[in-house]
Amino acid sequence: MIFLLLFNFLCYFSVNGTPHPMKIAVISGYGTLDSDMQTELQNSLKWFQSAFLVNKSSNPVTIKDVFQSIPEYQKFSSVLVQTHLHRQNIKLQDVQQLLEVADFTVFVIAQDPRRCARDPDLLAEAMPIVPPLATMSICLKNNPRHRNPSLDSRFFFDLFRHEILHGLGYGMIIDKSSLTHRPSEKYIWRNSNGIGHPEMRQFLDFDDFALKKAKSHFGCDKMKGIDADGERKNHLNEYIFGNELMTTHLEASGNIFSWISVGIIERTFNGKEQWYHINRTFVAPEANQYSYGRNFGCDFLQRSCHEFIKITEKLRPNMSIAPFCSKNNRNKCFKLPGSELVYKMSDKECEMRRVIGDESVSSCGGNEHKSHSLCFLMTQSTIYHLQTDKQQQRRCPIIKHLPVNYEVVQCPRAG
Ligand SMILES: *[C@@H]1O[C@H](CO)[C@@H](O)[C@H](O)[C@H]1NC(C)=O
Ligand SMILES: *[C@@H]1O[C@H](CO)[C@@H](O)[C@H](O)[C@H]1NC(C)=O
Ligand SMILES: *[C@@H]1O[C@H](CO)[C@@H](O)[C@H](O)[C@H]1NC(C)=O
Repeated sequence: MIFLLLFNFLCYFSVNGTPHPMKIAVISGYGTLDSDMQTELQNSLKWFQSAFLVNKSSNPVTIKDVFQSIPEYQKFSSVLVQTHLHRQNIKLQDVQQLLEVADFTVFVIAQDPRRCARDPDLLAEAMPIVPPLATMSICLKNNPRHRNPSLDSRFFFDLFRHEILHGLGYGMIIDKSSLTHRPSEKYIWRNSNGIGHPEMRQFLDFDDFALKKAKSHFGCDKMKGIDADGERKNHLNEYIFGNELMTTHLEASGNIFSWISVGIIERTFNGKEQWYHINRTFVAPEANQYSYGRNFGCDFLQRSCHEFIKITEKLRPNMSIAPFCSKNNRNKCFKLPGSELVYKMSDKECEMRRVIGDESVSSCGGNEHKSHSLCFLMTQSTIYHLQTDKQQQRRCPIIKHLPVNYEVVQCPRAG
């Protein structure tokens, strides 16, 4: 039977009640993507299969549910199925069987070409329908390869991981119960001249597992919540979380699925029971690499970058606070993952860069409904450009040309 081929069940005929590796099928009525994009889609499904353990869903979906919630699928007679193992065209009527055996199914839907054209930074969107069913759309015209032909295909791997995580419910399932809801908070952002203006901080819901991890990562016991991208609460805040996989912007040089995201997705329930379990052994090598903001402390989380820099220079002069420019970075060195080369950190070349934080409306993905959108932009180093008036007031001194995945190391002794 074709589905045995698609999923190779022999590997995990799972015992009822024991979580098993999650099998995701991506179904498209629109044919294949560019070949390396399609390959990275498959690699991302392999990653989910290794990283996620799930119980069989107690309320599987049927083809009728699909036709009802994704009506465009009524018009296809055959579809392309991608699993972590295979890619194959099947007849639409056979999708029913696939829905029965997959743990989660993602349907690729048409993207509105006007939206893609209006917003060249919009790359993809995904949203849960009824778990275990989700949709994903992709602005093919906005493929970042067109602007940056040397872009590593790893970027697409991160893109699909990011989107499918949303499809699984990350930052998307809205629960108004007081148990999981984090109220927002007012604070004052002070500029370098000391003038302050009021800002709002929003926190992700479902953070009770993640907050513990974040407190120890940043070294701040009084951290109040996991800073979100704004009122939508779909993402981790870009300013606070940098190259984490689930921030609003993907970095060209790689994005990390951290213990903080592990905590968020494990707390994203489908019904009463915890559904997703992360295989910690599998994700540890990646999650442990996450170093952005490590030990920056409460001043980083609660004050502006200008105050953070000043306070740290005074109280902890030995701590490097790259990517922020500071005399603290003098005599500090960094290296890149997988390389032994050590570079001197220099903040001679410094630029005031706009901070992407907790804006409630952005130029990209300012859509009001539950759908999630991912914006991206990059040149050699990642440059952010969301244009809102508010953002212009918030700029931070950032070291130019510092790759995002640097790791601070001891400088070799001269001599
Ligand atoms: C999986 O489902 C079984 C049966 O519904 C339940 O007893 C068990 O606790 C679940 N396991 C996990 C880890 O959620
Ligand atoms: C978790 O991942 C490790 C490393 O990849 C693997 O050896 C182990 O079998 C996995 N555990 C489960 C329960 O799948
Ligand atoms: C901090 O730096 C000073 C001067 O470079 C050095 O003497 C001191 O040992 C350092 N302290 C720590 C804790 O590394």
